[in-house]
Amino acid sequence: MKPKILVTREVFSEALDFLGQHFDVTPNQGDAPMSPEALAKALADKNGALITLTEKIDAALLAQCPKLKAVCNIAVGFNNIDLNACQAHGVMATNTPGVLEDSTADFTWALILATARRVTEAEQYLRAGKWSGWKLKQFLGVDVHHATLGILGMGRVGQAVARRARGFEMTVLYHNSHRLSAEVEKSCHAAYVSLDELLARADILTVHTPYSPATHHLLGTTQFAKMKPNAILINAARGGVVDDAALITALKQGVLAGAGLDVFENEPALHADFLKLTNVVLTPHIASSSEATRRRMAMLAAENLVAALTTGKPPNLLHPPA
Ligand code: DGY
Repeated sequence: MKPKILVTREVFSEALDFLGQHFDVTPNQGDAPMSPEALAKALADKNGALITLTEKIDAALLAQCPKLKAVCNIAVGFNNIDLNACQAHGVMATNTPGVLEDSTADFTWALILATARRVTEAEQYLRAGKWSGWKLKQFLGVDVHHATLGILGMGRVGQAVARRARGFEMTVLYHNSHRLSAEVEKSCHAAYVSLDELLARADILTVHTPYSPATHHLLGTTQFAKMKPNAILINAARGGVVDDAALITALKQGVLAGAGLDVFENEPALHADFLKLTNVVLTPHIASSSEATRRRMAMLAAENLVAALTTGKPPNLLHPPA
């Protein structure tokens, strides 16, 4: 008998076909997000699951899933998974590094440019029929070229963002939990600075750090006050790293000039005031969403699940923090 697996959200057919060669698959092609209760019920007799960041895997859930051996996230971020609980229950957890960094970095640049040059605000104005003609002072933005880019979190995505900054002839500074090797710094043309120096010097600050208790509200009122008043903030990493309520206050009070956000605390619920602000660009957590990349992510997660349940050695096994 084939092992039983659950695929919690809609995925591409090639991933389902591949999983079907190895497993008895229960798909969710209707794509409705599952409540914790529905997820526990669906996983009660399953050996594995292909999951997404909309499913929370914690001790309470795992206690109800005695046969579960592997959960494979279709995402590089894994803050939806309690790795200690997985270890305690003998459940392998995996993510999808190495396949989405370039697409996410491309999208970060879309947010940087759209925010600095007020692209969505100007388009809304035009679509609303308000454009009566060219004006010298219309939608004045801030320049990206030759500005200072601050990168908070210099993993794969942060580095890919840094490499792209060369075309804009920018000064690139970064802060990270550890300093990178001289070789990597050179390839990114980026200089390591303290968090305070990053905040003080960046014209554009872009966040690429994972979400964890250690990075919860890493950027809030205190940090915004240390930034330049004409600075913009970009977050395509995870909601919760930025204190959304504090950001809204900073944007309203002119402490910051603008923000480009792909992720939010409590998403998909959005702090209502974001929608009232004109100096923000808002997108629905799509930074990695090119078709090719989302296909690669789903396939890599499927490969992890097959390896986990057949060899016990998935290529992207996650370990609890020491
Ligand atoms: C990730 O891979 O963590 C992305 O946020 C998924 O969209």
